[in-house]
Amino acid sequence: MSVAQIWKVGQLRLMSILLPGLTVIGTAGQMHAESLTEARLELKNWTTAEDHRNMMEQLEIVRLRPGPSGQPTAPNAANYNPELANPYPDWPELLQTQTGQPVESADVWWQKRRPEIVELFESEIYGRVPESVPDVHWQVEEEADDRVVGTYPVRARKLLGVVDNSSCPDIEVKIQMVLVLPYKIQQPAPVLMMFGGFFGGGGMPRKAGEPAPPGRGGFGRGPATDPNADPPSVEQLIAAGWGYAVVIPNSIQADNGAGLTRGIIGLVNRGQPRKPDDWGSLRAWAWGAGRSLDYLETLPEVDSMKVGIEGVSRFGKAALVTMAFDQRFAVVLVGSSGAGGATPFRRHFGEALENLSGSGEYHWMCGNFIKYGAEESVRGALNANDLPVDSHQLIALCAPRPTFISYGIPEKGDANWLDQQGSYMATVAAGAAFRLLGARDIGDTSDYRTATMPAAGTSLLDGHLAWRQHLGGHEDRSNMKFFIPWANKFLHLSN
Ligand code: GCU
Repeated sequence: MSVAQIWKVGQLRLMSILLPGLTVIGTAGQMHAESLTEARLELKNWTTAEDHRNMMEQLEIVRLRPGPSGQPTAPNAANYNPELANPYPDWPELLQTQTGQPVESADVWWQKRRPEIVELFESEIYGRVPESVPDVHWQVEEEADDRVVGTYPVRARKLLGVVDNSSCPDIEVKIQMVLVLPYKIQQPAPVLMMFGGFFGGGGMPRKAGEPAPPGRGGFGRGPATDPNADPPSVEQLIAAGWGYAVVIPNSIQADNGAGLTRGIIGLVNRGQPRKPDDWGSLRAWAWGAGRSLDYLETLPEVDSMKVGIEGVSRFGKAALVTMAFDQRFAVVLVGSSGAGGATPFRRHFGEALENLSGSGEYHWMCGNFIKYGAEESVRGALNANDLPVDSHQLIALCAPRPTFISYGIPEKGDANWLDQQGSYMATVAAGAAFRLLGARDIGDTSDYRTATMPAAGTSLLDGHLAWRQHLGGHEDRSNMKFFIPWANKFLHLSN
């Protein structure tokens, strides 16, 4: 072998250490310059358990603590005793820099403190969006002006955001979105972008004259069968002169760990596993919402300065993450988001950090997040109290833009598991950032450690930061009639 050949072989070895999935096409004897260009990565086809294990190995974690069970009768049932709910009452300082300086001006917030908080959420909780994510080209699949939402005539458009996959043609990502606007608009319409998912609604609205689906169905954000339910959210929006856009999260990134080597995360990594600070599904869904907003920005009929983001449950988490990281979104409705959303990890009530670091939900977060669920690792044992940031700071990243934290009630199915009271405390704690930036908080300026959630049905809607626990279940349609006028007021919309 010549020196040059030895060097090439060495380089290939190095590459296969750096890129564990590297498969070299060609025999050892052919290892010259051309074989390098032919080298191609074999897409990983791991199960969720395999991917989770790989991340534990990367992080040198030996053992995780198991999360509590949501079943009240299980031996390891989650805690629901309020007396035991605050083992870590002091949360990371919101308005103090990492070097201990108080943050007393908007300037220091924007220049120093906010970037610090963003960095910590990116490296430890939700992950980073890679520097070069391929471009998205939007195609109109179908357009119709003969549709109705409820009884309201609308114009609808079905779209596909095709991601350039020339870097890895084996992985295709096509973001699905349906945009629906009131038929008659005098001026560009505000639009609420909604993460589709649990309650359907990602399709085109029905044709005028076709029978309506039974019950209160459609994109209702609630059970279709309850005769007393409010009209579906989309109907309320159109009636109020708003448009809506439903984005399908799974078309951006799968909702499981096995999918992490596919979707937009997998495409950027060319089918290889994540590194510890790579983005998780929540950040990927938020990225997809941002690309969908890019498209809306090209439409004269949309008021792109007044586009909001909404989601319920895991998509409530995604809506909050979207709002926190993409400052072009003007308003957010965070529905029943729980842990990983508005609920602090430092609380001990219902779902715990350990549920999200286990193999069922870790894919929402970046790999590094798993470290905090470790019982035994190269770093020893870490827990929620070791996290450098918590949910009050995520809510604060939305300031001063209008931010509505919404829940339902456990009696109707918005389970205690979500820890509504914890989310309330975080909302109170986040208020300081809104006040600093000249915006209004929820009106409760008590110490977050002792702040108590008001009775369900109480509206704290006078501020840019808003809170309301409605009397329905695991949905946010029951808050839509409160959200719309509140958003109109803070976005200076007349309707
Ligand atoms: C589970 C999970 C929650 C999540 C919810 C959902 O209950 O533990 O964190 O919000 O599913 O998305 O439906």
